Amino acid sequence: MSRSFDDRLIAKSMSGLEEVLENELKKLGVKHTQVFRRAVAFRGDKELIYRANYTCRTAISIYKPIKHFFIRNQEDLYNILSTFQWENHMNIDQTFAIESMISGELFSHSLYASQLTKDAVVDYFRDKFNQRPSVSVENPDIIFAIRISGDVCTLFLDTSGDSLYKRSYRLKHGSANLNEVLAAGMIMLSGWHGQCDFFDPMCGSGTLAIEAALISQNIPAGYYRKHFGFMNHMDFDKDLWQKVKDEEDGKIVESECDIYASDISDIALDDAKANAKNAKLHHDIYFQRAAFEQLAFPEKDGIIIMNPPYDERIRLSNARDFYTKIGDHLKNNCKGYSAWIILPGKENMKYIGLRPSKRSTLYNGPIECTYAKFEIFAGRRKEFLKDREN
Ligand SMILES: C[S@@+](CC[C@H](N)C(=O)[O-])C[C@H]1O[C@@H](n2cnc3c(N)ncnc32)[C@H](O)[C@@H]1O
Repeated sequence: MSRSFDDRLIAKSMSGLEEVLENELKKLGVKHTQVFRRAVAFRGDKELIYRANYTCRTAISIYKPIKHFFIRNQEDLYNILSTFQWENHMNIDQTFAIESMISGELFSHSLYASQLTKDAVVDYFRDKFNQRPSVSVENPDIIFAIRISGDVCTLFLDTSGDSLYKRSYRLKHGSANLNEVLAAGMIMLSGWHGQCDFFDPMCGSGTLAIEAALISQNIPAGYYRKHFGFMNHMDFDKDLWQKVKDEEDGKIVESECDIYASDISDIALDDAKANAKNAKLHHDIYFQRAAFEQLAFPEKDGIIIMNPPYDERIRLSNARDFYTKIGDHLKNNCKGYSAWIILPGKENMKYIGLRPSKRSTLYNGPIECTYAKFEIFAGRRKEFLKDREN
């Protein structure tokens, strides 16, 4: 029986955000998607590739397959790739890099698969043109990705270039900032899109508040980027890209909600303000220096999304007490709000002392975290539910 190759585009995301990304793609008109671990497969043309790179908040990279083949051993990888017509995908004066993703038994190190692929590119150009292109680790013009799954290999072009979490508005990193894709994903998992006021009371460098401002104004995730990988590709269509950009920029709206960001640290607040200013969003976010436990929350509809210190990069004298105080303040001062908190592991969330109504697992870098929702009822839960039924 002959086996068929999967010729779909792959959008890479983060663990726990796959369905969010799938929804983003569906909103762009994608009909058939398939969710994998940390990735979504879909079909689309060049226009969709540009649009997805520009707008998807929870995509890290978008890969386009350019060759499929089978291998029986490691030599096959080199032999097949050294006859591939690489000049159809890069010029000799462009720098390149190879990423690899491996599963199965033929390779035990992804680095070795990258090395063989790199050798195949270099040898191909040297044999055919007597000249070789250079590898660049830092800033390659073209990124190829090789995926080896058992005996099936797919060679992809990375259409994003720099990872899409690099939105280009960040000037300051802070001591424990969230990745922008994770921050956007957390907000999108909460269902917030600007329908009520937004609070991040431990804002650090401001990632959640800035991503919230982007979401509420429908500003494309890639709005501040000057460059995407597809711009270096041979088939780059400048007019099509300009059309996509103009269309998406034309969907930017005024926000109807208020966004509040506060932190106990002046340094963190300065970082957050600098980042927001760089994104020209400093007039859209209210910044305040305040300890969370002293913060008064207005009596209105609101959502709180917070990323407290984990006692890792930012040390806490007593993490358990700290998290319990967060729960107490939510209970006593944030009635009517929903609060979403991300904390490392599973145990820490118990110290908040409230029962989560939703919970999921996300990864902040390598740290497995619990992301939980708490509904802070105005009265006792039973009364609240009765009110809602009436
Ligand atoms: C993990 S960092 C937040 C990082 C942020 N999400 C970002 O992307 O940059 C936690 C922040 O909580 C702040 N913090 C610690 N204790 C606080 C308190 N009691 N009230 C308000 N902020 C506090 C720290 O100054 C730090 O900036």
